[in-house]
Amino acid sequence: MTHVVTQACIQCKYTDCVAVCPVDCFHEGPNFLVIDPLACIDCGVCIAECPVDAIVEEGDLQPDQVPYLALNAELAQTWPVITASRPPLPDADTWANQADKRQLLITEAPA
Ligand code: F3S
Repeated sequence: MTHVVTQACIQCKYTDCVAVCPVDCFHEGPNFLVIDPLACIDCGVCIAECPVDAIVEEGDLQPDQVPYLALNAELAQTWPVITASRPPLPDADTWANQADKRQLLITEAPA
């Protein structure tokens, strides 16, 4: 089991979750974070930290969130680890309550 970052994080990237992770399992892309399922210890402390409730325990994923399980595992292999919080993306608060952000996800590894 693992925890999974889902759609709500896209275009926001608040990174409050990173500050509490005891095993540095978050990886950072241009406009999204993912959790490495091989590093996650299922402690769950990150869930409450996310202001947009983007982090979901694997067993609690809704049907439309299931694709994010494989997406987290895949992108964690190419994106760098992030170990400290930083300011959110510009306009994060505007994007926070918007649905259907999946098409905005940038999957390329940062340069
Ligand atoms: Fe994303 Fe929430 Fe963390 S918006 S970066 S999962 S605090």
